[in-house]
Amino acid sequence: METKTAAKKSPAKKTTPAKTSAKTPAKKNAAKSLEDLFEDSLKDIYWAEKALLKALPAMMKNATSEKLKTAIDKHITETEGHVERLEECFKALGKKAQAKKCDAMQGLLDEGKSILEETEPGAVRDAGIIAAAQKVEHYEIATYGTLAAFAKVLKEEDCLKHLLSTLEEEKKCDELLTKVADTNLNSKAM
Ligand SMILES: [Fe+2]
Ligand SMILES: [Fe+2]
Repeated sequence: METKTAAKKSPAKKTTPAKTSAKTPAKKNAAKSLEDLFEDSLKDIYWAEKALLKALPAMMKNATSEKLKTAIDKHITETEGHVERLEECFKALGKKAQAKKCDAMQGLLDEGKSILEETEPGAVRDAGIIAAAQKVEHYEIATYGTLAAFAKVLKEEDCLKHLLSTLEEEKKCDELLTKVADTNLNSKAM
């Protein structure tokens, strides 16, 4: 039975269902083990952290609120540490630190850039910057949470320690941004 909403939205004409059940063929260099996937994911977030490091100064420059500027400035220093911790993870695995383009972070940073262009400087742009920054933090929290779970299963204790330290900082940064948004900006932006 179709619900009222579904009936309104979907056209009466039947369409051929997409072949979503088809298996995607793996690339030649596809990860074969959890170890491979772990290493690939580290390369991905290594690229993402470095890209973020390049993007954060522009976000800070465009912010008006002193609290927001300070929060971003603090996170630039922390992000430098995240890059270093990832290099320690590669070292612990006996691998060369290598970056692999992270499409998700690229998308988030592109969106952050357009938010700057699409907002007037001041409280509204500050609110936009916080929104963009929190999307980045949530992506990082999800990524480090997964990486830590992988490290735990793989018994990579050194990596696990580094990943959890970074995860904690990403969470704190997200909480700080929420506070800045609550106290300073959202009311002004209205
Ligand atoms: Fe980070
Ligand atoms: Fe972060």
